[in-house]
Amino acid sequence: MNLVVFTYFFRRCSLLEEYGLEESYLNRSSALHRRHYGQYFTPDNIADIMKQWVLHNLQGTRLLDPAVGLGKLVQDIPTTYDIDAYDEDLKILEANRDFFSSHSSIQLYKHDFLVDGWDKTYDGIICNPPYIPFRNEDEKEIYLNLFRQNMGVSLSTYTNLYGLFILKALHQLDENGRAAFIVPSDFLNARYGTKIKEYLLQDSSLELIINTDIQMGWFKGAATTSSLLLFDKSNRSDTIEFIRTQSNEELQQAATYMLSDRNKPLGIIHHRQDLVPADKWRLHFYQEDQKRFKNVQPLNHFAAAKHGIKTGSNQYFCFNNSKMRQWNIGKQHFLPCISKSAQLKNPFFTYIDYKQLMQNDEQMLLLYADDEQLENHALVQYLEDGKAHRVDQRHLIRSRKPWYRYPVLDAAPILVSVFNRKHIQFVRNKTNVRHLDQLIGIYLYEEYEEDADLFMAYFLSDRAQELMANPHKEYGKDLKKLEPKDLNSSLVLDVQALSEEQKQEIRSLYERIEYLTTHDGDQRELEHHYQLLNEFFHDWIQPYEEEAGHN
Ligand SMILES: C[S@@+](CC[C@H](N)C(=O)[O-])C[C@H]1O[C@@H](n2cnc3c(N)ncnc32)[C@H](O)[C@@H]1O
Repeated sequence: MNLVVFTYFFRRCSLLEEYGLEESYLNRSSALHRRHYGQYFTPDNIADIMKQWVLHNLQGTRLLDPAVGLGKLVQDIPTTYDIDAYDEDLKILEANRDFFSSHSSIQLYKHDFLVDGWDKTYDGIICNPPYIPFRNEDEKEIYLNLFRQNMGVSLSTYTNLYGLFILKALHQLDENGRAAFIVPSDFLNARYGTKIKEYLLQDSSLELIINTDIQMGWFKGAATTSSLLLFDKSNRSDTIEFIRTQSNEELQQAATYMLSDRNKPLGIIHHRQDLVPADKWRLHFYQEDQKRFKNVQPLNHFAAAKHGIKTGSNQYFCFNNSKMRQWNIGKQHFLPCISKSAQLKNPFFTYIDYKQLMQNDEQMLLLYADDEQLENHALVQYLEDGKAHRVDQRHLIRSRKPWYRYPVLDAAPILVSVFNRKHIQFVRNKTNVRHLDQLIGIYLYEEYEEDADLFMAYFLSDRAQELMANPHKEYGKDLKKLEPKDLNSSLVLDVQALSEEQKQEIRSLYERIEYLTTHDGDQRELEHHYQLLNEFFHDWIQPYEEEAGHN
């Protein structure tokens, strides 16, 4: 067997063993037990990156893993390093007893890391801390006191244990030490994260934050991504680089970059002195900076973005033709509505689309009962049925008077999908059809109502996607949630800066795109027009630096 084949074979065997180990631990322990200790395993590629960072040019041989679990982050580390490893759960340590007992370079502490060893220091620290809140009042008090006494920091009572692990471990990191943590990224935006960020700025050894969209077990339902925090005390620079990765390839690219001389930044560099602990740091992963582009303004300069109608129970209040017939409720008791963003198939929504969706028996009708109509027998019966099924007791609904009436916004000229994947979905609504809360409406102020097509033309461009796709919450695999407030502050075309000729140029491209889309026109011509539109906005909305570079 040649060396390459052997290495491959060996690695595969150890991977299989490892999967076996994790699998068997998962089978033998209860989910409750694992949740109690915050037990999740670091994915292989992340574990490799963390080891590479910590061992790269490391001065010294004393290593620490404060939350070792099955040992994922310490396996394969050469025996020339002395590793202190903590875990307070005897059950998980027992599950990999053979590994720990056969590695004399690993000193196992079956203790609570947050309580023990405050005076010890290390050259390198590698850690995937437990992601759990304080388990009870006593524990909270003990931990918070320890941090006050040993580090002089008063932490928020909402702090998650992983924040405590970061702080204590950094406190124990020696001069010139290196450290790598993998943690959920919610502390970057959450209020309780302020103290942690304050400490990170003051400690000044955080070099890089690599955000990954990779979802790990504990993020299920937690709506957050993970952050790799990479520290180097030997090189206290006055900047932190924020790198965002959305695929394994990008993560690998970041891993290669982190060990290079980093002359040409891969992410966004921020000066420590400009970083504010109370700010939402997730925004720092995005290039878009309001000051840096010309010919744009925040959307709320021209319009207000608002949530669609919130019924409290779309299942109850939305009807399709069949349901309407079944209950025999007259058409006059309904408002036309778009109930789901998936009903919008292309960027232009017309009455023809509405009719088609009605024919397809989609839910396009919103029950709208006002007092005069309540004499209608079928309607009263349906409302009675709602009460019998306790619809009137639901959240949002029970506080309304009467329970079946909700605020109804007008139809919006431009709609935006709340949940988006790669691209934000914008739709020009050419009808008076209202929308529910899977969509956000952009309501132009009166003086800009005539410019709806100009804005829509911009929204169709790559520039808009680039400038607007920033500060959303990330939900699961590249699914992002938009809030009206995100939209209100995002950058849109400054229509006031356009000359009449430019407006004309945009309008004629846009009208052709609309025509070709709604009339199933020639695909190549459509693409060509999109390209022209993209070129226009690319040239017109430029970063200031890029412009200076050209001059
Ligand atoms: C997220 S797991 C990481 C496991 C492993 N290092 C990995 O990367 O796959 C966190 C580990 O911390 C342990 N743990 C929880 N609370 C602890 C504490 N107070 N002190 C030490 N270990 C703790 C849990 O039992 C669990 O094994």
